[in-house]
Amino acid sequence: MTSISTVTPANAGEPLAAWLQAAFEKAFGEAAQDTRLRVLPSTDPSFGDFQCNDAMGLAKTLRLPPRTIATRIVEALDTADAPATANIAGPGFINLAVTPGWLAGQLAALADDARFGLPDIGGGRTIIIDYSSPNVAKPMHIGHIRSTIIGNALDRLYQALGFKVIADNHLGDWGTQFGILINGFRAYADPGRLRDAPIEELERVYRESYARTEKDPEWLDACRAELVRLQQGDPDNLALWRQFIDLSLREFNRIYERLDVTFDLYRGESYYNDQLAATVALLEERGLARESEGALVVPLDDEGMPVCIVRKSDGGYNYATTDIATVLSREAEFQPDRIIYVTDERQQLHFRQFFAVCRKLGCTTRLEHVWFGLMRLPEGTFSTRQGNVIRLDALLDEAESRALAIIRESSPGMPEEQQQALARDIGIGAVKYADLSHDPQNMIVFTWDRALALDGNSGPYLQYAYARIRSLLDKYAEACPGCDPAKAPLLLQEPVERQLALQIMQYPATVVRAAENCKPSLLADHLYALSQLYSSFYQRFPILKADPAIRDSRARLCTLVARVLREGLGLLGIATPERI
Ligand code: ARG
Repeated sequence: MTSISTVTPANAGEPLAAWLQAAFEKAFGEAAQDTRLRVLPSTDPSFGDFQCNDAMGLAKTLRLPPRTIATRIVEALDTADAPATANIAGPGFINLAVTPGWLAGQLAALADDARFGLPDIGGGRTIIIDYSSPNVAKPMHIGHIRSTIIGNALDRLYQALGFKVIADNHLGDWGTQFGILINGFRAYADPGRLRDAPIEELERVYRESYARTEKDPEWLDACRAELVRLQQGDPDNLALWRQFIDLSLREFNRIYERLDVTFDLYRGESYYNDQLAATVALLEERGLARESEGALVVPLDDEGMPVCIVRKSDGGYNYATTDIATVLSREAEFQPDRIIYVTDERQQLHFRQFFAVCRKLGCTTRLEHVWFGLMRLPEGTFSTRQGNVIRLDALLDEAESRALAIIRESSPGMPEEQQQALARDIGIGAVKYADLSHDPQNMIVFTWDRALALDGNSGPYLQYAYARIRSLLDKYAEACPGCDPAKAPLLLQEPVERQLALQIMQYPATVVRAAENCKPSLLADHLYALSQLYSSFYQRFPILKADPAIRDSRARLCTLVARVLREGLGLLGIATPERI
């Protein structure tokens, strides 16, 4: 799995860059030694397929006008077996139009590569992704849902690039809320409701108990006493606390199963309890913490941030303390290269603060907070309370039932069971894609019309595109028994065929960019553009009815489009049913 992919570099322009580089060195000798020319896909196809813009940047060092530099490079190009024709535009852009033969060769190499061109940039190094991380006894809110979907896509992307990913669900399973909950539970919990809707019941109990703390000081004291008893290890309170965790996890796991999300670790905040005192002691020992109004804080003036409180005036530790202890523990146990945290935007300051504290402690792990904006959901069934608390299972149920209605209409002859399995793949895929197709940092308004649109940028649209290619290839196999499209020479004569080929070639680089920038949306955009190109190709040109050599070449191109769609959607955690 971790064999290094040598067939296709992650940037499809690299072989062209090598070609230009040789010419550059031939033309400029010594002066060219320290510069590596870069070739990137063209932003506009009318400028050719690829371009090199480096002549502009070189003008100063070479003391020549950029156009002269570009001209000399192009004149020195080795024309034997040239991969492209080059021409110069504007102040000194070198535009490259690749030859069909070169394109076909690159595509064939990609097709033959077991990793489909994905470079092994991880080389087995470890990345911890801290995602989902809902709070016990509370329903997942929209922030946790997005964290689950985005975090899982990052998990898949990094694994595909050769990293060892540890997916860690950092559950909120400790804190002052448990005193309120335990005291409230003994007074208010209803066994029937607890059986039917455990998390909602725990939440109701919590809310009721919390409300009473505000008007009944004795109740507040009793809640505090329960918390202290829990912290001191009282067996009854510990048992109740475990019960809350079990009930919550059972529900969370049902959702994870539906979303096809799995974790390597479920280390909640409580896991680090016995490391908090030592963490604070370390901060004191290093002279990083000082007293402030009874609390212990780490000043972050140099970083331009408010102090990070690591011990409250009542002696309790808080969220940041746990997170610092967690980093230390993860470093010691896993030596990760990087830890990525996925939460909503409201926690940005918290992460910046404790990252800064960790750096003061000498942590070398690259710590990264991937934050996302909120997603507004449709009003109605999902909002149990103001705004962003939703019942995710209700959202998924509705997605599946809407998908089922569409399938019943489009494939009335399909057996019921198959329709339902398909509805699951399409419904869940629609919800995931609606999230992943947006830049995480943008706010999204979710609508069913857009999520399920068969003619727009949606999960179902891409799933349909994939299934349609599969059925076309079945017809090809029938029409042409014994033909193996994988062996057909790629002819790539039409511009749209070239564009398809170029888009396919960009797949590995896109996966790398999506992972490195923690933006699965870059991959979603790529897949959508690919399927749009495919559909204009399919509408304008015959495939099965074309002359045999062209037919076979086109069938091969179709298999490659299908492969990118399947693998790419797979990296987004979206299923690709073979039949729709
Ligand atoms: N439980 C937290 C919340 O619901 C999210 C935890 C994120 N991870 C972390 N290491 N802080 O807001």
